[in-house]
Amino acid sequence: MRNFRHLLLLIPLLLLPISLWAQAPVSAGKVSQPADWDKDLALNIPKDLNPDPHILEINLEAVVKEMEIIPGKKTQVWTYNGYLPGPLIKLNVGDRLIVHFRNSLPEATTIHWHGLRIPNNMDGVPDMTQPMIQPGGEFTYDFVMPDAGTFWYHPHVNSAAQVGYGLYGAIVVEDPKAPKIPGDELVLVFSDMSLDENGVMQAPSSGGRFGDLFGREGPVILVNGKVMPTLQMRKGKQQRWRVINASRTRYFTLRYKRSPLVIVGSDGGMAEHTHTVDEIKLVPAERYDFVFTPPDEPGADGKFRWYPTNRGYGSTYNRLAEDIMNMHTINEPAVTPEPVPEQLRKIAPLDLKDAKERTLNLTIGYDKDENVAMGINGVHYKDATPYMIKVGQTEVWTIRNDTDFNHPFHLHGFFFEVLDTNLPMQWKDTVDVPQHSVVRIAMKFDDRPGMWMFHCHILDHAEVGMMGHLHLER
Ligand code: C2O
Ligand code: CU
Repeated sequence: MRNFRHLLLLIPLLLLPISLWAQAPVSAGKVSQPADWDKDLALNIPKDLNPDPHILEINLEAVVKEMEIIPGKKTQVWTYNGYLPGPLIKLNVGDRLIVHFRNSLPEATTIHWHGLRIPNNMDGVPDMTQPMIQPGGEFTYDFVMPDAGTFWYHPHVNSAAQVGYGLYGAIVVEDPKAPKIPGDELVLVFSDMSLDENGVMQAPSSGGRFGDLFGREGPVILVNGKVMPTLQMRKGKQQRWRVINASRTRYFTLRYKRSPLVIVGSDGGMAEHTHTVDEIKLVPAERYDFVFTPPDEPGADGKFRWYPTNRGYGSTYNRLAEDIMNMHTINEPAVTPEPVPEQLRKIAPLDLKDAKERTLNLTIGYDKDENVAMGINGVHYKDATPYMIKVGQTEVWTIRNDTDFNHPFHLHGFFFEVLDTNLPMQWKDTVDVPQHSVVRIAMKFDDRPGMWMFHCHILDHAEVGMMGHLHLER
């Protein structure tokens, strides 16, 4: 009997190798995402009309479509090809994009290719780089993708209203030679809509002067055009998120249980090296590209949240975090995440030795009728004269913001380097200039002459004057 007891004690030891084998960690590279993981979030892929693998040729129509944004309610959404967001334009760096665009909206429009360093006559600014495309009119955009990264497209006519009504889409340009980043790609377009409880779009000028001053945030937050979509994930199985803020005013501070997000790039493609954060602040028009590692136990459910951002006067007052996406972890064993490469590419900082300096004061005032009149150096856009700049010139712009609101500053057509920052070297086209602060940026104007704009990307601010332009000449 005594000996037999000894044998019983041995049983767990004998079983140990079997259980170790059963729980041996599986590398994330060896399993796939849950079936239908991005079903709620997948963006429309447009039909390629061109057999050449290096040309993406598509039809794009701006058209009003009735959609169900709030369950059971009908909304007249302004869309590209009937999709919200518009089709995902995806190609490789060096590929050519041809877009046969047709305007079936009740008003004129254009398309601006936000962040792309393309020739001036493709930039989509009405009366400056092309005539407005009238209702029923057509225009062909045709250019080569100069850079890899995450970009987007939107109208540049009556833009606060048209973007607010739903006109935006994502662009992903890949570089097959870039370091391989683990995780399956998920493109997320964050936006909002000014809908009332019946799903009816509010007037673009709602809130009057206060709306101009504060910018108009729609109460309905959308992720890829949906209210509270569900993302399926598996613990440890990485996802590579490319996030875009396509709202006319709203800032998005986003996090998931403070779990680490490994940033690989922003507006102008990959950064020099990765850096890790536990939340992303995405100002209007800005993009980030990061690796997300699902942290929850198998079978768990969570909520991805939006948090209020202090972007000035009253912007966080009495506001709570909001759930914006369901996060479901499937009931399958966790996997071991793959390492993310730290060094991504070399980016030489600009040589500022002969740089020309300029100061841009972002200003808010009132006109003689007491309407809000924003501007740059006190000048409303309609009275502004262009900066004259020669091709090849490098400049340093000191952007001063003595107003009580933040302003996301955007330059068309050229990347800039943000100076005085501890972040890894990276190219940007949109940067937040917080209330009562100064941000310095540097850019080199390469050989693409023409008239280029810069403005606050709170589109309500741009519309009331916070825009300027520069004339680049040979
Ligand atoms: Cu997205 Cu004039 O900009
Ligand atoms: Cu602004």
